[in-house]
Amino acid sequence: MQQTLILLKPDAVQRRLVGTLLDRFERKGLRLVGLKLVSAGREIAERHYAVHKGKPFYESLLTFLTSGPTVAMVWEGREAVAACRVLMGLTDGAKSPPGTIRGDYGLSVQNNLVHGSDSPENAAAEIALWFRPDELVSFAQTDAAWVG
Ligand code: RTP
Ligand code: MG
Repeated sequence: MQQTLILLKPDAVQRRLVGTLLDRFERKGLRLVGLKLVSAGREIAERHYAVHKGKPFYESLLTFLTSGPTVAMVWEGREAVAACRVLMGLTDGAKSPPGTIRGDYGLSVQNNLVHGSDSPENAAAEIALWFRPDELVSFAQTDAAWVG
């Protein structure tokens, strides 16, 4: 079953949206496999967003991600990577449609509340970056036969 890394970025925590946003992933039918509050330092932020090194927004992005607590989560389910990207919406909150997290709760490009892995390969690398194996819990969800 596919897993993906989701971060509720520091703006989500500061705006007290953690419960509201977590609810979106839970209601979708995904299974929660890992969950913790992290004060991300420069090193993990650099490794997480290494693909953007050299871009004009890179330094600002690192400052943002290290500016306060982040909720790191692993969610599991059928097509979890793509399903979570759809729940999140587009990168730019102003252009993201209503019904998506970024469309419903923000106008910013940078402060866009949530990160989600963009491929199963990147998901595996990002999960290993943010979680130790013993922090992940596998269990049989009782409604799995109904939700998929
Ligand atoms: P994420 O990686 O956080 O899930 O977001 P994404 O795939 O939708 O967007 P990506 O292109 O990977 O950009 C990573 C994060 O960098 C910030 N950003 N700022 N100022 C800008 O032009 C700009 N562009 C991107 C956002 O926080 C974005 O989520
Ligand atoms: Mg990305």
